[in-house]
Amino acid sequence: MLSSAFSEEHHDSDSSLHSTFASRYVQASLPKFRMPDREISKEAAYQIINDELMLDGNPRLNLASFVTTWMEPEVDKLILQSLNKNYIDMDEYPVTTELQDRCVNMIARLFHAPLSDGEQAIGAGTVGSSEAIMLAGLAFKRKWQNKRKSEGKPYDKPNIVTGANVQVCWEKFARYFEVELKDVKLREGYYVLDPEKAVELVDENTICVCAILGSTYNGEFEDVKRLNELLQEKNKETGWDTPIHVDAASGGFIAPFLYPDLEWDFRLSCVRSINVSGHKYGLVYAGVGWVVWKSKSDLPEELIFHVNYLGSDQPTFTLNFSKGASQIIAQYYQFIRLGFEGYKSIMENCRMNAKVLCDGIRDTGRFEILSKDVGVPVVAFSLKDRTKHDEYEIADNLRRYGWIVPAYTMAPDAEHISLLRVVIREDFSCTLAQRLVNDIRKVLEYLDARPPKLVEAVTEAITQAEPDMKGDVVPSSIKLSAVIRDVVLAKKLSKRMNSFKTNGVC
Ligand SMILES: Cc1ncc(COP(=O)(O)O)c(C=O)c1O
Repeated sequence: MLSSAFSEEHHDSDSSLHSTFASRYVQASLPKFRMPDREISKEAAYQIINDELMLDGNPRLNLASFVTTWMEPEVDKLILQSLNKNYIDMDEYPVTTELQDRCVNMIARLFHAPLSDGEQAIGAGTVGSSEAIMLAGLAFKRKWQNKRKSEGKPYDKPNIVTGANVQVCWEKFARYFEVELKDVKLREGYYVLDPEKAVELVDENTICVCAILGSTYNGEFEDVKRLNELLQEKNKETGWDTPIHVDAASGGFIAPFLYPDLEWDFRLSCVRSINVSGHKYGLVYAGVGWVVWKSKSDLPEELIFHVNYLGSDQPTFTLNFSKGASQIIAQYYQFIRLGFEGYKSIMENCRMNAKVLCDGIRDTGRFEILSKDVGVPVVAFSLKDRTKHDEYEIADNLRRYGWIVPAYTMAPDAEHISLLRVVIREDFSCTLAQRLVNDIRKVLEYLDARPPKLVEAVTEAITQAEPDMKGDVVPSSIKLSAVIRDVVLAKKLSKRMNSFKTNGVC
């Protein structure tokens, strides 16, 4: 995250920090944006930070995020014990390195990599799926460039083909590493990559097609098998060798357990690499992801760095150098603690709770369900009738009950559809699902009792009265109460934020 200097949000002007309870330990307030001149006691530092952090939401009620918010106390202990280990010091921490290798091998085999007994899988632990995707994308780009160079063809206009519903990390990859992103637009009622249209976009400069196993927007699996068939045909006709990458950030730890017969992984010939987030359904706290390649030939050797200044030869393919080792250890803990059966039963439970929530929301009669029965256990839903209130008002009002449920718009060309999404994680119980349905009902009753679309009505009135109104400033000639003025500005800001393609949901 960049510093808030780049944020359009309101900045507070008060540049010192006051803390009620810490006043027992420190009397003077602390500067916010300058390092304090003097030290304070450890108790005071703890209290000040703890007091401020109380204003953060409760992670367990953060239904916006796929990322794990609960782990067993035993693994918490292992994490604490290894917080001071730097993962990159492979020579100093050979056991941690060995554990990461074991994880890579387990994941590659889970995804049906064609490995014989004892053969080592090709892959790496990463900070999350975003880093994994950057690495996979770089491997495709370099491989494509090498091929083009060897054929004496231009290699300066690489592109990737994706659905418009890709997570923002793919756009980052495209922009940071100068690859054109060709996206297949969505349409109303169809919110994932259309394989036919994707293959039509493929040309000789396409470094890969990305399919998502579990769209961030509604959890739906993309049809990787169909994409593979079509691409195989096109490759045969053209003599190209366009590969597929599967972004299985959340679905990679769902499909093998719930839908073992679904072919989406290395069983398909064009699938050459896959990423998965360990910190999503891999059941580890934030900070771990994985990328695996089908074979050694899919990872160009020149991308691997060998350093020896920490002891022995260390092959690395990462974007950063140092990082904590505890997440790798935690991932290994989950694999051996739960095994295949353990993961399966947790994912089945998630699926069941998603169904309870989905049925409850459908029974209100007010929403259309946009998530699918087969997919990542999320419930995405949209108001059938938006003339009275919209999804943003529902999300805002659910906050009053402690729930953090994001409202957002679909990707192009379905931006006119706004939706709410609840991610069902391991720690979201059936009781919570029922309680959430009750609270959604209460919010609907509350909104129904209010004059409909008050804010829109005021905004519309202002726009008509002052057609030249520019920016986000309500002209002073228009008399509004402070509250209404703030709401109008917030609404305008939220609309503008939605017009940027920065997918806040992750
Ligand atoms: C499909 C998809 N890809 C990539 C990402 C980025 O994952 P990470 O947060 O692990 O970097 C997400 C995050 O939600 C995602 O849903």
